[in-house]
Amino acid sequence: MIEAISCSKIIKGRNILNDINFKVNKGSIFGYLGPNGAGKTTTIRIAMGLMKPSSGSLRVLGSDLDKNIDLRGKVGILTENSGLYSNLNALENLKYFGALYSVKDFENKARHLLDFVSLPYSDDQKAGLFSTGMKRKLSLAKAIINDPEVLFLDEPTAGLDPESQKMVRDLITDLAKNKRITVFLTSHNLDEVQKICDHICIINRGQIIADDTLSNLQKIYSRSIFNIKFSSENMPAKAYDLLKSKYPGLSIEMAEDALNITDSNFETNKIIKLLIENNIEVKEAASQKSSLEEIYLNLIRN
Ligand SMILES: Nc1ncnc2c1ncn2[C@@H]1O[C@H](COP(=O)(O)OP(=O)(O)OP(=O)(O)O)[C@@H](O)[C@H]1O
Ligand SMILES: [Mg+2]
Repeated sequence: MIEAISCSKIIKGRNILNDINFKVNKGSIFGYLGPNGAGKTTTIRIAMGLMKPSSGSLRVLGSDLDKNIDLRGKVGILTENSGLYSNLNALENLKYFGALYSVKDFENKARHLLDFVSLPYSDDQKAGLFSTGMKRKLSLAKAIINDPEVLFLDEPTAGLDPESQKMVRDLITDLAKNKRITVFLTSHNLDEVQKICDHICIINRGQIIADDTLSNLQKIYSRSIFNIKFSSENMPAKAYDLLKSKYPGLSIEMAEDALNITDSNFETNKIIKLLIENNIEVKEAASQKSSLEEIYLNLIRN
């Protein structure tokens, strides 16, 4: 549905995008992550046909959108600056875009979408006077009024209150899973990305440094951690000494009320048994995977 093939962009002699490649499948929610200035919005601009790549290509629905303008009606976009008409109210904005895209029965659809994003339609307030969150919700309704097949969302939940963030997340998941809309999303909220994206691509200084499913990223980049919590204060130190005397090579980190064993080649049962036999009471023990945030920060720092 979206495919970058050796896509590069040079602006004023600077390599903004450097030979990027990725593929986004139909109905997937693709999380495109990276630090400020990494090249995320530039990628979206090129995909939308608003900017040409210096070399390579970025195809949406099989075409370069700068050459195939008809396809733009099948694509929705939500950007940082919302593209709304500030002197029209919410309903007028949606009706305007509905008419522009020749949406059938756009008046009803506009009302339905306003209900959906919880914005009033019988309001005199112009969009220019809306709060950040209200503008974001209206932009999202605008982005989907033409029932797009592909949706680009550039930081869709930035500046929204927690309830609205959840509303937008649920909406995105619904669009992808039930309407099979392909979503290309950028976000600095890694917890959110971890919740909704099925594929993650990380860009840093114009270069793709990771591109995989979350579970594969966890398999490749996670440290395997076995976390053991104890019932009383001096237990971690006791357990540490015991384990070190029995298994001198074992890699163990001591935390306040817990031990983290970061070796992947050990038998957890043996360790728990040894502790219990030595009257060291274990409160909780579990294997943990790194969060997307840990994986992201490690990749960006290296
Ligand atoms: N038209 C332009 N002229 C000059 N430089 C540009 C232009 N557009 C983008 N850049 C530069 O390209 C780099 C990437 O910008 P981009 O907006 O794509 O970053 P981003 O990943 O979206 O960052 P953020 O997370 O802050 O939104 C930045 O260094 C930016 O200054
Ligand atoms: Mg950006």
